[in-house]
Amino acid sequence: MVEQKETIFDHWQRPLKDLRISVTDRCNFRCHYCMPAEIFGPDYPFLKRDELLSFEELNRLVSLFHRVTSLQKLRITGGEPLMRKDLPQLISLLSQTTKIEDIAMTTNGVFLPRYAKELKEAGLKRVTVSLDSLDSEKFGKINGRGIGIEPVLKGMQAASDAGLGVKVNMVVQKGVNDNDIIPMAKFFREKGYMLRFIEYMDVGTSNGWKYDEVITKQEIIERINEDMPLEAIKPAYVGEVASRFKYKGSDDEVGVISSVSDAFCHSCTRARLSVEGSLYTCLFATKGHDFKKLIRGNYSDEDIMNEIKNCWNKRDDRYSAERSLDGNTKREKIEMSHIGG
Ligand code: GTP
Ligand code: 5AD
Ligand code: SF4
Ligand code: SF4
Repeated sequence: MVEQKETIFDHWQRPLKDLRISVTDRCNFRCHYCMPAEIFGPDYPFLKRDELLSFEELNRLVSLFHRVTSLQKLRITGGEPLMRKDLPQLISLLSQTTKIEDIAMTTNGVFLPRYAKELKEAGLKRVTVSLDSLDSEKFGKINGRGIGIEPVLKGMQAASDAGLGVKVNMVVQKGVNDNDIIPMAKFFREKGYMLRFIEYMDVGTSNGWKYDEVITKQEIIERINEDMPLEAIKPAYVGEVASRFKYKGSDDEVGVISSVSDAFCHSCTRARLSVEGSLYTCLFATKGHDFKKLIRGNYSDEDIMNEIKNCWNKRDDRYSAERSLDGNTKREKIEMSHIGG
């Protein structure tokens, strides 16, 4: 019998449509805005294997989400998701059990030459690769590991050759890489990959975020406009995170993700499953709901599905719309590498 799915809504009438799954808290990079090397050093207590949900546990849980409500997108994140052993097996499991068409992954790209083909065969549709500068020396400093841009560009190429869609994310920080806005825009326009500029955000607590370091969407657009005139275009789907722009006189596009200056909480349909199996209903949540306990305990599918509904129905998060620009420093937020991007 085909199950009739209902759409579930939160306190502000936002449906649940998009599940983001963090599969590891580890990363081969140490980007200073995400996992600064001083904090994530050699003795950092990364999670042990049995603390992470296994692929089978993840597959069961994701399937239950999908039975509760029709998910439109799965996004695999980390840390760096390709640090998780045998990741294509998870993609394959999720793709076969859920039949969700849009399975995407956020990655730093370095391992894509090794895995792109396998990921595509497993059912992955697209990747979003992070790159913050075209200057290898600067990029090496930002990623904290001295890794230049070549391995990342090779990763994008491998993904594209394997038939995966490719987008690029650039986190913009004043005085760090704002001079790279124009070169990045030109380079990726030429390459044909959609570039999205991300306003530097106060995720977690270890990056010591300050509002002074943010370059707003408005400023980013003005700068590009001077060189290459832009016009705003409609979102590709309701609740799209990035505001889209077109270079006038062409179909080439660029996006800006403005969580700080122009929040998009009103249409936020995203839930996040952290690497230790907790459900977070906001990127800036202070506390998750422990689904590992349910998955490893003696709970039926119905019990777990009810708990999913409960969590979403109670959700009233709108952190970005309410944040104070002093960074809410007293709030204990979860690091991006745990909760996923
Ligand atoms: P598409 O499916 O390609 O539209 O992707 P997406 O916009 O979901 O892409 P991606 O995962 O690359 O998100 C880009 C970045 O936007 C993330 O890495 C975060 O930095 C930020 N972001 C995504 N979702 C949220 C959100 O719900 N809240 C906030 N504040 N930032 C978000
Ligand atoms: N602000 C904005 N974007 C961030 N990312 C990681 N930390 C931050 C932050 N503090 C981005 C990464 C990657 C995605 C997972 O989120 O660059 O593209
Ligand atoms: Fe790793 Fe991505 Fe965080 Fe950089 S932003 S440290 S690549 S998870
Ligand atoms: Fe959604 Fe929270 Fe981001 Fe707002 S701040 S868009 S509620 S994840």
